[in-house]
Amino acid sequence: MGIAWRLFAQPSLRFIDSERAHSATMAILSTFGESSIGQRVINGLYGSPELPIEVFGKLFYHPLGLAAGFDKKAKALQSWPSLGFSWTEYGGITRYPQEGNPKPRMFRANKNHALVNSMGFNNPGATKIREELRLRKSNGKWPKTPVAANIGRSKKVSNLYAADDYCSTLDSLYDYADFFILNISSPNTEKLRDLQELDNLRNILNKCVKLRNNKETKKPLLVKVSPDSADNQILDTVNELIKFDLDGIVATNTTIKRPEPLSTQSRKAFSNNGGLSGRPLHNRSIEVIDLIYEETDGNLPIIGVGGIESKETAWNAITSGASLLQLYSALVFKGPSVVSSIVKGLKKYTKENNFSSIREAVGYKHI
Ligand SMILES: Cc1cc2nc3c(=O)[nH]c(=O)nc-3n(C[C@H](O)[C@H](O)[C@H](O)COP(=O)(O)O)c2cc1C
Repeated sequence: MGIAWRLFAQPSLRFIDSERAHSATMAILSTFGESSIGQRVINGLYGSPELPIEVFGKLFYHPLGLAAGFDKKAKALQSWPSLGFSWTEYGGITRYPQEGNPKPRMFRANKNHALVNSMGFNNPGATKIREELRLRKSNGKWPKTPVAANIGRSKKVSNLYAADDYCSTLDSLYDYADFFILNISSPNTEKLRDLQELDNLRNILNKCVKLRNNKETKKPLLVKVSPDSADNQILDTVNELIKFDLDGIVATNTTIKRPEPLSTQSRKAFSNNGGLSGRPLHNRSIEVIDLIYEETDGNLPIIGVGGIESKETAWNAITSGASLLQLYSALVFKGPSVVSSIVKGLKKYTKENNFSSIREAVGYKHI
């Protein structure tokens, strides 16, 4: 494990190229982390306590999961629970295999605790992933915690045919995830965000919901939204999701906006094209969660993601209305101990507020 693990576990060692650091981490997690001894060791170091919550009929042993984009190829599905996550989202997966955008395409802004990425759904395609996941399942290597699949539109497919593209990937992966997130908000595939316009969105929902409803088991289907959409567009999306009886919404993806850089290194990172994640995204992500919760009276499950990095930011998202949470950037800046420290913090707040469960805290700000 050596140096790669140190890079992952000690966030102070952040000098090497971001995508290489990420690949080194994934190499460790997909080998050592997938062995039973590895899982025991990692769990001993980073395991999280229980703080159960039921969302769309599924029991999560606490609310915090791994956000999309870290385990893009679903290579370390058994490692994430050992690192303390209660659920994992793999992907984004597209129907067709694709390389993603040219490198470098992942940049750190250390002082701002932010990342900028323009990955562009680099992945081996739905058919290959399906085959790998089939093998994983038949080898008894499927995790015990819930797994979600993040689905994107293939680069070579125009928005005109996007509904078929999403639907085909959903069909391929249907037996290999517990729920699905339709990603129409990544800034790194040209015109992908135009899919949030109502006509486009309706086409996608129509096809995907039909496919899902024809399956023997009706699995939850969610949509992930952009923090850069105007509030009224987000509300239009929310109302469309309700019409189509979707199961929830993920708020939010990365932003194309840039905050004030806190160092020359951050300024350089921010000058790259792509989506920004981490600390500077938090406030807008919370605004979007508040907006959705109020519009739906808390009736549409919200997964809160964006700058969750501490017990305070996590509690902020929960009391705004998120019943599940995810993080990505905090893992890079704070290392894996951030997961259990957040869950412990949420447990403490739940107790201090005399709530009988974390469920009572969801949307508490709005009472
Ligand atoms: C390198 C990288 C790749 C990502 N890839 C995806 C993706 O494929 N699909 C997706 O929906 N979100 C993707 N995201 C967005 C994250 O899932 C999350 O919404 C965002 O990073 C905000 O959370 P954070 O502030 O905790 O990082 C990616 C983020 C990063 C940093």
